[in-house]
Amino acid sequence: MKKQFAALIFAILPVFAFAAGTEPHLDKVEIDLTDKAAMQDGLKTFANYCMGCHGTQYQRYERVATDLGIPEDVMMKTVVFTGAKFGDHMKTGMKAEDAKVWFGAPPPDLTLVARVRGNDWVYTYMRSFYEDPARPYGVNNTVFPNVGMPHVLAPLQGRRVMGCKQVQVVEDGRKQFDPLTGTPITQEACDQMIVEPGTGTLSEAEYDEKIKNLVTFLAYSANPVKLESQRIGTYVLLFLAFFFVFAYLLKREYWKDVH
Ligand code: HEC
Repeated sequence: MKKQFAALIFAILPVFAFAAGTEPHLDKVEIDLTDKAAMQDGLKTFANYCMGCHGTQYQRYERVATDLGIPEDVMMKTVVFTGAKFGDHMKTGMKAEDAKVWFGAPPPDLTLVARVRGNDWVYTYMRSFYEDPARPYGVNNTVFPNVGMPHVLAPLQGRRVMGCKQVQVVEDGRKQFDPLTGTPITQEACDQMIVEPGTGTLSEAEYDEKIKNLVTFLAYSANPVKLESQRIGTYVLLFLAFFFVFAYLLKREYWKDVH
């Protein structure tokens, strides 16, 4: 049995090694599922820039409006562009067959994407488009090479191209600092992705914030009951703690005569 177990472990190991080897670097994002303003902003971006191609068809406008604290009339005016009703599922207006012809791959439904791919992946993906004239839409993506999706947020982010910027010098895997002042030692590197200043309507920090809000909305979509489960979980733990006291007293009572 032990041998079989060891064999199984060794059989699985290469899978992890393979997965680790091909993973692109992902930037971390801290999201807060209680931040309704962030989710509202994310929903607005999603409705304006994504719903032409993607839906979140496993949730309804009505439920989202309730969860995010958006009144019905505001929701209908600012989010629902497909002529759908308040109680409808959030489907895209695009037909899957058309999309396949236009983009080579149908845009997948995004209800669960934050859970399937992970928040960090979606966050990094939306910030990793770069200009590549060899691609049909002139853009490629470092996280999703040769992706069929155009960079729809380019007007906000600006042109992301290969260029030069100051980067910290790394020797033997260690970042270098000036021994006297403690400031990082930098040098110009010309194989870096940079956003050309002034080509987008948002600064880099503002764009990152926009994407963070979008990811917060998608993380909510992927698990709309998470907050509720956490709330109930707290009560369950409190109940167990309370119950433990009585269970213990009762046990003491029963065992009193036995000892
Ligand atoms: C013009 C159509 C179009 C628009 C608009 C669009 N996408 Fe896409 N998207 C696609 C296509 C097509 C794919 C599939 C690409 C592929 O498989 O090569 C895709 C793929 C994705 C994926 C990867 C899904 C996966 O797990 O493989 C994510 C995430 C995504 N889009 C997010 C967004 C977000 C967020 C927006 C809005 C800011 C958006 N998209 C707007 C067409 C679009």
